[in-house]
Amino acid sequence: MTNKHFDKAAATWDNKPRRVQLAEKISAAIAKLPLNTTMSGMEFGCGTGLVSLALAPKLKKLTALDTSQGMLDVLQEKIDEQQLDNMHCLNADIFQDAYRERYDLIICSMTLHHLEDAAGLLKRFSELLNPGGYLAVADLVTEDGSFHDPAVKGIHHDGFSTEALEKTLTAQGIINIHSDIVHTIKKETTQKEYQIFLLTGQKK
Ligand SMILES: C[S@@+](CC[C@H](N)C(=O)[O-])C[C@H]1O[C@@H](n2cnc3c(N)ncnc32)[C@H](O)[C@@H]1O
Repeated sequence: MTNKHFDKAAATWDNKPRRVQLAEKISAAIAKLPLNTTMSGMEFGCGTGLVSLALAPKLKKLTALDTSQGMLDVLQEKIDEQQLDNMHCLNADIFQDAYRERYDLIICSMTLHHLEDAAGLLKRFSELLNPGGYLAVADLVTEDGSFHDPAVKGIHHDGFSTEALEKTLTAQGIINIHSDIVHTIKKETTQKEYQIFLLTGQKK
């Protein structure tokens, strides 16, 4: 599978300090979950691994999954350079019935808004979690559509209402749901502020 927009953006993705800082805030907030080195994790839409690389040392193993081979190639270089042996890259469609891996932690950072069927993705996450496993979803709080450059394709949601996501997750058997604002992005181009939430929960 591939994704032309992200393939093209991959080589310079980490050059924007705003992205690196956001990933630091999100991974620091996820690290407050009771993670341990018996746990198997997966980041859906890992990109260049800014979040995954920070959390992998706290887990037994972490699958960094994306449909952009360009993004995964950048991440693989980092994994090789740092000689990390508990992280691997995977280009796969988790909606395929054949995808049967199960996880103790699923992370989705700034990727939910790229999926047209966001509720379907949350349902799939619940199916892929082991009982007691943790879900951590970070994304934009509902905004006016000005966050992304209009030239960027594949933006299906102008952020989310955390209340609506909580209801969807509850219906999918996720319990102990908490939501926090973990970062605020100020954009010079629009002179606006955009809030980023982290929603966490556990599979029943
Ligand atoms: C905005 S980037 C976020 C990257 C990373 N999670 C972070 O926080 O730095 C979104 C990523 O989601 C990936 N993506 C989009 N649709 C996807 C899908 N259906 N399956 C897997 N990855 C997807 C893109 O290729 C891209 O790498």
